[in-house]
Amino acid sequence: MKLLEERIQKDGTVKEGNILKVDSFLNHQMDVELFDLMGQEFKRLFADAPINKILTIEASGIGIACVAARSFHVPVVFAKKTQTLNIDGQVLSSKVDSFTHKKTYDIIVSKKFLTQQDHVLIIDDFLANGCAVLGLMDLIRAAGAVLEGVGIAVEKGFQTGGQKLRDMGIHLESLAIVDSMDAATGRITFREQPHQS
Ligand code: G4P
Repeated sequence: MKLLEERIQKDGTVKEGNILKVDSFLNHQMDVELFDLMGQEFKRLFADAPINKILTIEASGIGIACVAARSFHVPVVFAKKTQTLNIDGQVLSSKVDSFTHKKTYDIIVSKKFLTQQDHVLIIDDFLANGCAVLGLMDLIRAAGAVLEGVGIAVEKGFQTGGQKLRDMGIHLESLAIVDSMDAATGRITFREQPHQS
């Protein structure tokens, strides 16, 4: 999505350790009008899928997912990061290894809100090694729901997540794929995606 790439070029900054900071418009301060256009683009890209629910993970995925949901006219469920154990069997849970934060955490969703009736689109802000998305896919599998696709705002194309998901045959759409970034020069390059606006 050219508009998102241009915004990343304009307002994104590259930090040591291959971290792209986009907190002025994506995951701290949020440009909701941009989110609206991103949501419309997700809707166009997943137009053929019978999606009835969007699944994301707290915290930064929630804003993007909620605005996208207005284009899909479906509810959003977010997985909670928690220390609480699944004591009463009322939740689905999985583990996520965060590469960026160098820790493992549990994610949970109530069984009430993810069931075998659901056809799910996963939405998140970043795709790096794919651990968060794989954890969400675990929850979908445990619920007996159907994964219709994964929509990501920014994929770091030089990390392994995108390739993993595409190799699994998952319909993955990343609105911007960063192929390289350089903290010294601030230069960011993007992968061409002719089917996107
Ligand atoms: P993965 O799920 O794809 O394997 O990613 P990873 O563990 O590496 O990412 C952990 C967290 O860091 C995620 O947020 C992810 O969105 C974020 N992240 C990864 N790379 C970047 C980056 O280059 N820039 C920024 N700004 N964030 C990045 P999270 O732990 O879910 O935290 P939250 O911010 O959603 O609360």
